[in-house]
Amino acid sequence: QVQPVIMAGGSGTRLWPLSRAGFPKQFLVLSGNTSLFQQAAERLAALSAVDIALAGPAIIGNEEHRFLVLDQLRETGQDTSGVLLEPMGRNTAPALTLAALHALEAGADPVLVVTPADQTVADGPAFTAALQQAIRQAADGAIVILGITPDRAETGFGYIRTEADASGLGVAQFVEKPDAATAERYVAEGSYFWNSGMFVLRASVWMKALERFRPDIAAATRLAWAARSVDAKFIRPGKVEFAAVPSESVDYAVMERCPGSDIALRMLALDAGWNDLGAWDAVWQVADKDADGNAAIGDAIFSDSHNTLVHATSRLVSVVGLSDVVVVETPDAILVSDRARSQEVKKIVARLDAEK
Ligand code: GDD
Ligand code: MG
Repeated sequence: QVQPVIMAGGSGTRLWPLSRAGFPKQFLVLSGNTSLFQQAAERLAALSAVDIALAGPAIIGNEEHRFLVLDQLRETGQDTSGVLLEPMGRNTAPALTLAALHALEAGADPVLVVTPADQTVADGPAFTAALQQAIRQAADGAIVILGITPDRAETGFGYIRTEADASGLGVAQFVEKPDAATAERYVAEGSYFWNSGMFVLRASVWMKALERFRPDIAAATRLAWAARSVDAKFIRPGKVEFAAVPSESVDYAVMERCPGSDIALRMLALDAGWNDLGAWDAVWQVADKDADGNAAIGDAIFSDSHNTLVHATSRLVSVVGLSDVVVVETPDAILVSDRARSQEVKKIVARLDAEK
């Protein structure tokens, strides 16, 4: 059996002012008619069309967003019985551990298809085909990461160096979020892939890897799981116990440590129009554009402007004589930014947080 797992508890601050603590990026509609979270759920549900016995999705979200998760999942028509809520964020390693313990409880050891909730994938059939292959390898006990061919020295990603072996691509090196100089070197060398953040593995393989590299996280999360409460809609780990779980990402806790160990880490290249919408520039990249390269989400008028993104939520936004700009309008805050520097929104968010 195959179990989709969607990690949906992050805060996505680089898409401020639209993405807020109470309504983060993954629940926004940024391309097409559904939110990124809904797109992730639908992408995985499509696996049932290729004869994979698919369990309902496990969603790991934050208590604060429980109704966003539930309402948006209902809209996709999927099983809502697998929503796990964290009382506070402890990053993705504990989140995945909750999903693995939940999956193992039923007595089976399903292959987990784990994905972030905040990405877009343009080519659904190519995605499904890659996952079919990954699921086969993971059923044999490997951790299989979906890798992306890089097109820039992005520092917000994990980097993977592979080596070919009899059964495909083994991961020789995994480096999470290298500094700018290192990322540039990796991209220039040409032998590195980005980590898409999507991976496939058996629930028991995750537990084994975590016990090996971070037994503290494994033990603390087991205590929180043992103290869980279950009601008609949600599954909640014990609050006090979960607060004591060390905060760490899957990538630092396990992936970086696999090469050279007895945990088999493999990579499959995914060529399916993947985009992690890390900042407003990426939203412009995937948006429908007019002949001048302008994209409007909401009401916008452009005059003599080029390659500009407007996201308007409550008012008409007009732009005259500007190029390569991003304008994001919300009722209480407006962002105007050089499109190439839209990553720097995080500086504004940090200042706002400091003033709170
Ligand atoms: N449940 C839960 N709890 N989910 C979380 C938490 C948490 O505490 N923190 C983050 N998430 C969710 C986010 O909502 C997102 O869907 C996913 O987990 C990944 O977290 P990010 O915070 O977006 O990670 P990242 O972008 O910095 O890095 C990861 O993704 C990159 C690709 O987009 C890493 O896996 C990188 O190696 C990778 O390149
Ligand atoms: Mg991310």
